[in-house]
Order: sequence, then C-alpha cells, then structure tokens
Amino acid sequence: MPRIAVFASGSGSNFQALADAASSQKLGAELALLVCDKPRAYVLERAQAANVPHVVFEPKQYLSREQYEHDVLHVLEEYDIDWIVLAGYMRLITPVLLQAYEGRMVNIHPSLLPAFPGLHAVRQALDYGVKVTGVTVHLVDEGMDTGPIVAQQAVVIEPGDTEAELTARIQAVEHDLYPQVVRRLVSGKR
Ligand code: GRF
Repeated sequence: MPRIAVFASGSGSNFQALADAASSQKLGAELALLVCDKPRAYVLERAQAANVPHVVFEPKQYLSREQYEHDVLHVLEEYDIDWIVLAGYMRLITPVLLQAYEGRMVNIHPSLLPAFPGLHAVRQALDYGVKVTGVTVHLVDEGMDTGPIVAQQAVVIEPGDTEAELTARIQAVEHDLYPQVVRRLVSGKR
C-alpha cells in the first residue's frame, strides 16, 4: 500500500478526514506520518488520537527554508513516504521537496483556483461578490496555490452568507473530496 505523509499547520480537519478514510480502508493508502510545523497545532492531538506517528519541526530554528526541508526529507525517507498530502500547511515548498516528490505532492485550497489564491480565500470570494466558489485539489509546484489542477467542486454562495457559514460548507466539501482524490492519485490515476 502507498504510504502518505500529511503536512498540516493548524486545526487539521482535513487530516481527520484522511485519517478516518484510512482507518475505514477507504484511502487506498496508509497514513504513515503527520508532519507539523507548529508545536501547538491542534492537528497534533488529532494525530495522537488516531495513532498516526507525527513529527514536529520549528522552521524558525533553521537558517534557510532549504535546510529545514532537508531535515523534513530525511524523516520522509526514514518513514518510506511515497506521497505528500498538504492539508492546511502554511508554507511554500522549495525545490528540495519538490524535486524529491515531483508529481507526488498534492494540496487542497478553499476556492476555485486560479481565483482567490493565498490566505483568506473564503473572505476574498465574499468580498469580491462571486456567486459560486468551491474547492480545488492540485499538484504542488513552487508557486502559491498554483500547479496542475486535479479536481474541483463548486460551492454556491447564498445571499447573506457569513465567512463562517461559507467556510463550514466549503470544509464539508473538502472532507468528502480530498480522501477520494488522494485515493485516485495514489492508485496512479489522474
Ligand atoms: C483548508 O480549508 C484547506 O483548504 C486550506 O487550509 C484549510 C485547512 O483546514 N489549505 P484544516 O486545518 O484541515 O481544518
């Protein structure tokens, strides 16, 4: 079975969806590792509860992003990781990891890319006044939320939606979509 590492920096609701899918044999992969760059992130508690091994890094202690990623890469090799699944990992990826995992690193973003990349994508969509937004899963390159799109799903914005309401509907779509797309990708399909 392919072995995946999830990278996350925050609450980890997508990590949870992936862990739940893995434990009910619906991921087609083993969730072999959580890589976290925030020592106090809630996702670490989720990993503990789900019995998923985790490593925590403090990128600020490194002189460069590349040096940090060399250490991450070393751990990925130790755990024999085949795929990197970014889920709310709040950093750009450098060529160190990109070259090692070319075509085997995926990200999820809460908008229909290329609209509204970067931070606060849900708020950006509300501020712009679009009527439809959604979720994108894409392969990762050096850019911010760029890279070939693998899957998208639309979410309709209702009149009067707050950021919290819209975020909740988008996240529900993410939690359903991401495990399905990861399953497809690790099985070798696009
Ligand atoms: C998700 O909305 C994802 O699309 C974005 O960051 C958020 C992470 O949420 N990249 P969570 O930590 O998985 O709850």
